[in-house]
Formats: sequence, structure tokens, C-alpha cells
Amino acid sequence: MAADKSVVSVTCSAPTNIAVIKYWGKRDEKLILPINSSLSVTLNQNQLKTTTTVAISRDFKEDRIWLNGKEEDVGHPRLQSCLREIRRLARKRRSQNEGDSVPLSYKVHVASVNDFPTAAGLASSAAGYACLVYTLAQLYGVESELSEVARQGSGSACRSMLGGFVQWHMGERPDGKDSIAQQVAPESHWPELRVLVLVVSADKKPMGSTVGMQTSVETSSLLKFRAESVVPQRMTEMAQYIKERDFEGFGQLTMKDSNQFHATCLDTFPPICYLNDTSRQIMGLVHCFNTHYGKTKVAYTFDAGPNAVIFLLEDTVNEFVAAIKQVFPPVVNGDKFLKGLPVEPAELSKELQAALAMNPSPGGIQYIIATQVGPGPQVLKDPQQQLLDPEGLPKPQS
Ligand code: DP6
Repeated sequence: MAADKSVVSVTCSAPTNIAVIKYWGKRDEKLILPINSSLSVTLNQNQLKTTTTVAISRDFKEDRIWLNGKEEDVGHPRLQSCLREIRRLARKRRSQNEGDSVPLSYKVHVASVNDFPTAAGLASSAAGYACLVYTLAQLYGVESELSEVARQGSGSACRSMLGGFVQWHMGERPDGKDSIAQQVAPESHWPELRVLVLVVSADKKPMGSTVGMQTSVETSSLLKFRAESVVPQRMTEMAQYIKERDFEGFGQLTMKDSNQFHATCLDTFPPICYLNDTSRQIMGLVHCFNTHYGKTKVAYTFDAGPNAVIFLLEDTVNEFVAAIKQVFPPVVNGDKFLKGLPVEPAELSKELQAALAMNPSPGGIQYIIATQVGPGPQVLKDPQQQLLDPEGLPKPQS
């Protein structure tokens, strides 16, 4: 904790996550309780993260929040839920007399930034709420039940409270006490696994997840069937594939679950279409690549937008990126197209080139972020990383 005059602050970072068994649909809108369990991979914060500073002081007149440098309404119901729940847990902890820390009556200032473009459509709310809840918890000295609080900010945020491979149990209780995240395996479990985020050019912002899933719950009978009869078994299978590091099983089920989620979107009325022509071309490319090798070497998944997230093993990265470049010739050069972990140039065999003979779409993919599985939220000790100045106001953004 950094103390200066009467202002005390904490800075933390939190990861984003990508679901391989998708969450889509709530049974309780206010508590954010889902209609099915889900399972995700936490992405590494070296490439994608949210950073949040929370400051507290006797002198602050009101709670305030700045997101990516811009002040936002602190009265947002989900934000209020998180603040209220953390303060409630802090009160509970104090009544049990566990140490002393900052007074609960003081107001807080919060500043949060994403180091990835919002245009990347990468569950920024998941990393954002996970980071907010984790940082507040550090400030107030709260340790337990944090995924339950993050869930009330955004459903997928509860999975960003842990690193590695994470399942969110839907739970049964009406109060949501059993709707929590749990680690299936730590980030060190599958070191060869790599993730490519393919940022697709999109002109128009798709319908947000919250409204989209609400319409799906109201109108899609396929979604009901999926939640009741498909997901329970898939959760068990997926956890098993991960435990066994079975890429073929993991990759195939990841693709099938993404496809079924998008099928429920089309089954929604009026229909929701998150995938665009480039998304479908990427799916085609992945299947051609796998067919050429006679096994699943690469897998895609798509959330509520056209960007693809690709899973593959380390030894396939260079070749698959070369395949992407053949089908989607970059219109920007070098380091602007490839960000994150290093990718080396590779030659495609004549046979593979022929197998991928599709009409090229120059610029269809804007850029690629190469990353891997990563840990959960972290406390950042370096004062350079603080987003609020000693007065508790946002530092100018670099
Ligand atoms: C398609 O967690 O963003 O990414 O709970 O309303 O905030 P709210 O929705 P959100 O939905 C995520 C949907 C998804 C699938 C997933 O991450 O499991």
C-alpha cells in the first residue's frame, strides 16, 4: 500500500479470459447468476491486462472513477454492487476483529486502464471488474469470496480472478453463494499451449453481451436445450481434456462449443450475428489446416464479436501464422501486424499452400496478438505503475 499524506492507495493488474465452454444467459439478472456453468483460459498479462489504482482518503468528498482517463458515472449499478459487497465483506471481517485497516466510511477514487484496444473486443469488462474487485479487496484487507463479488460486476469477470484454467460453477442457490470460480489447473500446467488473438476489422459495434443474452434467454429454445442437456457433460469433458493436456479433444470441443453458442445467437429472435465474413473465413482456414494434417492442430473460438481467438501448441505457431498471412495478406508491416510473443517467419510446403487455396482477403485481419496462459490478478508495487497521483487524481496518461 502506498501512503502519501492522508491518501492511501493500492495498484493491481488483472487478466482477461477467453471461454472455451461459453456462458450465455442469466437466471438472475441482478446477482448475475448464469443458466449454465462455463470454463475459460486466463490470458497472460504480459500481453493483455487491466491496471487499476484505488485510493482512499478522509479528504475525498465522494466515490469517483476514471476509465482509460475519462471520468465515468460511479452510480452504475454493477459498480455499486461491487463496492457495496467488498465493503460488506470488510465490515464482516472487522467485526471478527481480524486486524485493522482503512476506515470504511472514507470515499474511494478509482482509476483503471486497459493496455489493449477496446476495439479488440477482448472481454474488457471481465479484466476491468476483476481488477476493481481485487484492488478494493487489497485495500480493505478482504481475502475470501472474491469471485462472487467480481461476478456481480460482470459474469465472465469471476473467471478472471484466477489464473490458468478456470471453471465457473453455475450453482443452485438463489443467493448466488455457490456461483463461484474455481481453478481446474494452474497456468504452469500446459506450458506449450499458445493463444493467438486475431483482431478482425469491424466497422460496427455488435450488440453487447448483456442485452444479447437476455434476448436469447427469452426467445431461444436451443439455448435452453444447450444449458440443460449439453453443457453439463461438456464441462466434465473439457476439464478432463485439460487435465490430460489432450489438444485434439480440447481443440475440437472448444470449436464445437463456440459454434453452438453462435447457433443459439442465430436461434435468438430477432437473430444476433456476431460473426462476419472474415470470422467464417478464419473458421474455414482452421478446418483446411487441420484436414491437411489429418488432426486437430489449431482451434478457434469467438465471443460476442467477429474477432477470433486461436488455440494451438508452440510448435505450430510459426507455420499457422504464415498460413494466416497467405490468406489474409497484412496491409500493415512487421511489428504492427504481429504483437506479443515472438513469431518467426516460416515457409509453407507446396501441399499446404495448395490445401489453403482460398481467395486472399488483404487486411481482413488487422493484427495478431500472440500470448499464452497466465496467472490471476497481481499487486503492483512499482510506484511508476500507479494511476493516481498523491492527491488521488489521475496522473496524465503517457
Ligand atoms: C460470449 O460476462 O460480458 O464472452 O455478465 O452481462 O457482464 P455480463 O456478460 P459477459 O458475457 C460474456 C459472454 C461471452 C462468453 C463467456 O465469456 O463465457
